[in-house]
This record gives sequence, structure tokens and C-alpha cells, in this order.
Amino acid sequence: MRLNRLELRNLRNLAEVVLEPGAGLNLLVGRNGAGKTSVLEGLHLLAYGRSFRGRVRDGLLRTGSSAVEVFAQWHTEAGDRSHRAGLRHGGGSWEARIDGGTVGHLGELCAAFMVVTFEPGSHALVSGGGEPRRRFVDWGLFHVEQGFLPIWRRYSRALKQRNALLKSGAGIGQIAAWDHELATSGEELTRRRALYLDRLQDRLEPVAAALAPSLGQAMLEFEPGWRQSSLSLADALAVARDRDRMLGHTSVGPHRADWRLRLSGKGEGETLSRGQAKLAALSCLFAQATDCAAERGDWPVIALDDLASELDAEHRGRVLAFLGNVPAQAFITGTDPLPLDDGSRVFHVEQGLVTPG
Ligand SMILES: Nc1ncnc2c1ncn2[C@@H]1O[C@H](COP(=O)(O)OP(=O)(O)OP(=O)(O)O)[C@@H](O)[C@H]1O
Ligand SMILES: [Mg+2]
Repeated sequence: MRLNRLELRNLRNLAEVVLEPGAGLNLLVGRNGAGKTSVLEGLHLLAYGRSFRGRVRDGLLRTGSSAVEVFAQWHTEAGDRSHRAGLRHGGGSWEARIDGGTVGHLGELCAAFMVVTFEPGSHALVSGGGEPRRRFVDWGLFHVEQGFLPIWRRYSRALKQRNALLKSGAGIGQIAAWDHELATSGEELTRRRALYLDRLQDRLEPVAAALAPSLGQAMLEFEPGWRQSSLSLADALAVARDRDRMLGHTSVGPHRADWRLRLSGKGEGETLSRGQAKLAALSCLFAQATDCAAERGDWPVIALDDLASELDAEHRGRVLAFLGNVPAQAFITGTDPLPLDDGSRVFHVEQGLVTPG
């Protein structure tokens, strides 16, 4: 994907920004509080239908304004006609358009506009709870496998129904009636997640070797959400039924799935430093972007907030070299200039204004 125009209106301190990025690396430089992260936030909003910095009412809308707007124009690697999408939030709900038509569900925007974002919270990929790691896997599957979303929806709906029954104190028979649907869709969801992580393993190895060779070989280990080695999901649900009735929710299944990143250069129990965790998380994101490119024939846009923080000059150089070697468009923010190659473009961000450098 190549973005050739990005317009942002009333997003935090950005009153009106029009950006015409280059095809390769785009660096947004400026002082603290200038509005750099807010530019990436706009990009992320269009791709995910939400911010990585909280809800709209948590200050996304510029003080004193009535609606935040994001508009983008891009073309895909296939070189087809250019696409346009816009998103507007007037304080109540989202309105979105894509290629001239109204969007009924924000998922349609997310399917068309692919952005992989690294922001300070992305450290959670290698530390923190399972939720961001499940979301990571499901994002990848959503973008590369057409049939994934229906399976995911089937499982989510069955889980919601079963949980509602558990909460209301329903009898065993009523709960068991949902177990079949939960087990069938859940086994399929798990099969796809496992295959995806297997494939990602192959993508990850060269990326991790390029970004952080001192961490050793990177290995992804899938945890399906129940003791899959000894039980089918149907059996695991049946075994857990009495406990689930006491708890009031479903305690086993793919909604509890997780994965772990093991690094051969780090012993069991050794925690990663902040910089190492950042390099590990970046490796996972780049592996995912590589997979998207290989499976769909198109790179997602890569957005890296504050790349330089926590990384030494050598590792910053490694990240930039990786991006310089792949045909991905990237947006990188920082308070200081970076050593970039000729094809890169620099934008200065100052008090909410963005000017080409
Ligand atoms: N709702 C809002 N209305 C107006 N300004 C806002 C709003 N919310 C945040 N701001 C301001 O917007 C500015 C931009 O913040 P942003 O996080 O994008 O800066 P940044 O350039 O990434 O800074 P840093 O280098 O510190 O990460 C900040 O000065 C912030 O206080
Ligand atoms: Mg910032």
C-alpha cells in the first residue's frame, strides 16, 4: 500500500494537516508535544476504527472543535486505481466512506486500509496480558484469510450466549446446548491460529536476526486456551462445566489463547530490558507485515512512534536498514533527525503544523 495523501482535521492539537508522503520512509520530526504521535494516531484510526490512546472522549477531538476527520488516498501494489477513505466522528458516533460509498461497519475500512503500528503500548506484545497478543494473531488472519472473520464471529457469538447462560444460573442442559457450536467453531479458530503462528515463525527468524541478533533465535509458542494435547475442546468444555457455572463465565477455550516469544539468547526467567523488549516486539510486527506482503502481495503501511527511544544507534540503524530493504511505506516519528537514505522524506511538526523539510 502506498499512501499518497493524508488529511487530518481537529485531531488533538492538529487543526488541519495535509501530508503528501513519499513511497519509502517518511520521518516526522519535532519537539515534545508538537503533534507527531497525533499524526500516526490519525493513520491508525482509519485502519482500526479506534485510537491506540484511548476513546474519542479521552481527548481525541481538538479542544473547541465539533468533529475529528481523517481522510486518506492510496493505491495498492497491484497498481490499480487509487482508493479513498474518510472517517469522521462528531462526538456521537463514526461516519465513514470508502471509494465514494458509505461504510456500514468500520471493519470494511479496516479490511481495505492496512497499517501496522508500533506505539509505546506495543511492548505488551512481549510482556503484559494475552489480549494484545490474541488481537495481533487475529489481525494477521483477518487480513490474509478471507474465511477467518465468519469463524471468529461464530465463536464469539456462541461464547457470548454460553456466558450469558452461565451468568443467569441456567441449567446444565441449556449450557451444554451451546458447547457443540463453541467447540466446532473454537477448534477451527484454533487450527487457523496455530497454522498462522507456524508460518509467522518462518517470517520471524530472518527479521529477528536482522534487528536483534544478540537475542538469539526467536521462537513462537502457541497456547490454545485449553490443554489441547490431552483434551478436545468439546471435552474441555464438558469438564469445566460445573466450575464455569460457579464462576459465571467460560474458563477454557480459544478466548483464553495466547502465544509466547522465546529467545534462545535469553535464559528461562530472564526478563528483557526495555530496548530488547522493543526490538522483540518490532520483530513480531515486521514478521506480520512480511507475512501480509507475501500472502496478499501488498505491504501494510508501517507506523513507528518514537523509534529512537530506548534503542541505541546500532539498533536504530538495524531497524532503518530493514525498512530500507523492503518495499514498504513507513512513517516514523522522532524528536531528532535520523540518518536516512536519499529516497526518504522528512516532515517538520511544530505546534500542530506539518511542513515538508
Ligand atoms: N484534545 C486536544 N485538543 C488540543 N490539544 C491537545 C488535545 N489532546 C492533546 N493535545 C495536545 O496535542 C499535542 C500533541 O501531542 P502528541 O502526543 O501528538 O505530541 P508528540 O509530538 O508526539 O510529542 P512527544 O515527542 O512528547 O511524544 C500535545 O501538546 C497535547 O497536549
Ligand atoms: Mg509522541
